[in-house]
Amino acid sequence: MTERLKAAIRQTADAVNDVINRLIPKSNEMESQLFDAMRYATLEGGKRMRPLLVLTSCELFNVDYSCALRVAAAVEMVHAYSLIHDDLPAMDDAKLRRGRPTVHCEFDEATAILAGDALQSLAFEVLADPDSHPDARIRLKLVEGLARAVGPRGMCGGQMLDLLSETQKLDVGAVTRMQKMKTGALIMFACEVGAIMGKAAPKHAMALRNYAHDFGMAFQMTDDLLDLTGVQQDLGKETGKDAKAGKKNFLAFMAPGEARAKCELLVDQCIHHLSVFDESRTGVLVDLAKFLLERKN
Ligand code: IPE
Ligand code: IPE
Ligand code: MG
Ligand code: MG
Ligand code: MG
Repeated sequence: MTERLKAAIRQTADAVNDVINRLIPKSNEMESQLFDAMRYATLEGGKRMRPLLVLTSCELFNVDYSCALRVAAAVEMVHAYSLIHDDLPAMDDAKLRRGRPTVHCEFDEATAILAGDALQSLAFEVLADPDSHPDARIRLKLVEGLARAVGPRGMCGGQMLDLLSETQKLDVGAVTRMQKMKTGALIMFACEVGAIMGKAAPKHAMALRNYAHDFGMAFQMTDDLLDLTGVQQDLGKETGKDAKAGKKNFLAFMAPGEARAKCELLVDQCIHHLSVFDESRTGVLVDLAKFLLERKN
């Protein structure tokens, strides 16, 4: 990983944690366990890749940093919610996440369900707040964009397909659609935030969408490869779970080497899409795409 990317990730993690810490304070009320679980799921570990995509896309269009940071935190909260629910016994039944017990193992299942629900609601509350953008029309676009990304035609729909794939056949087209929905859609939204908030020209918005499309696909492919070939210690989550559950992903259709070659192609395409921007402003996005090929977690 380049020093530039390392610094950007560190800075993003610190700044986003700061915002989340303020948005989800410790509670002294009787329901404090819910707040504890929400903090547990959001404040430690994780690559903070989606917030970084939000912040770098916002930087491209000179969006106010404190506004961008709130949206980055909202996206990370929704991502954390998706992980909590993904790990539940009824879904992937995972015990380890970000190097620690999953939320339902650390707390209990009901608390995990509620913490996921509450993180999602809070994320939308944050987007609707004038502190996130002074223009109500832009806030509405953010709310609509995130809702579409994680709703039935986005992440939730993709998760449904992922679960069905354990017992049903999916062809390459269906797997592509599943990946786009379950992982790609939220990544696409993270990249679109800058274009929405910065009122970008269509050609720039399109370039970011194309980057996000290929990034999202390569991201989930490398996640699937890591489940097969990664090391639990590095990953911070259990390995070998997809094959055991009978899940269908690209590795059901191609050898790991071929999948890797496809990822390399996707990363090249990511970089190519950025050529409409001034090269001096896309360094972190280039580094981030390249990082997908070397990531161990
Ligand atoms: C894991 O996402 C879930 C997928 C969509 C593959 P990340 O790999 O970004 O998880 P964290 O945030 O770094 O823990
Ligand atoms: C999860 O995909 C995608 C989500 C929307 C959370 P995975 O089930 O492969 O994610 P991991 O491997 O558990 O992080
Ligand atoms: Mg899953
Ligand atoms: Mg999982
Ligand atoms: Mg996985």
